[in-house]
Amino acid sequence: SGVERLGDMIARAKIIVPFTGAGISTECGIPDFRSPGGIWTRNRPIQFDEFVASQEARDESWRRRFAMEEVFSAAKPGRGHRALASLHRAGKIPAVITQNIDNLHQASGFAADRVIELHGNTTYARCIGCGQTYQLDWVKRRFDADGAAPNCTACDEPVKTATISFGQAMPEDEMQRATELAQACDLFIAIGSSLVVWPAAGFPMMAKNSGARLVIINREPTEQDDIADLVIRHDIGETLGPFVGN
Ligand code: OAD
Ligand code: ZN
Repeated sequence: SGVERLGDMIARAKIIVPFTGAGISTECGIPDFRSPGGIWTRNRPIQFDEFVASQEARDESWRRRFAMEEVFSAAKPGRGHRALASLHRAGKIPAVITQNIDNLHQASGFAADRVIELHGNTTYARCIGCGQTYQLDWVKRRFDADGAAPNCTACDEPVKTATISFGQAMPEDEMQRATELAQACDLFIAIGSSLVVWPAAGFPMMAKNSGARLVIINREPTEQDDIADLVIRHDIGETLGPFVGN
């Protein structure tokens, strides 16, 4: 079966690089983007230039974020996260590349510098001008007091969740580190991503072109199933649960 073949490939691999998307966190209660009921089936994304240009867009963006706070703060790592953390402790996985913003790889046991966050992190905020970071509690208090999304106390530019929005530049260090990992691994496993958002979606093919074997685990077909060595079209928790170890 697919899971047995995955087990063989994991056993034989020296350097495994997982590449995760929102599907690894749905069992943790966090909706993905493109499944029925997903974030982008309910709300249109707010582009970065809209956020910069409009107080109304910033207010709406923060209202959406506050509405998700109970979900994000209650979420615990799922079986997928825990399986990857086990393989990390076993020395098989040097670091994880993720499109996710939910901090759950860190919560499962990866040190912060072993999680390459291509799309940032929603558990804290950052000034888009000077980069000063803020806790969400501070943003919430200011929003409640002023009835509007706050600006930076240092430079007066807008404060945004520390995520990458559509139209915003990709983080350079993370892109560089993800490139090096994709090129160095011998097994690349894309987990829970529709693989439609670029440049992130370029890493599976980059790994494949550098000689890695490519596995895709996703319950729906993805854009890149045809280049994979193995496609497991099944639930992530069930597929990776057997790899949760000590
Ligand atoms: P998507 O919502 O596009 O894809 C998630 C995939 O996971 C879907 O194909 C689901 O079928 C699958 N899935 C969900 N739960 C699963 C489960 N329990 N088992 C197996 N498969 C499951 O999310 P991403 O590909 O992560 O970026 O989205 C990529 C980017 O688009 C995000 O990082 C975000 C978004 O816009 C930005 O906003 C910049
Ligand atoms: Zn600032």
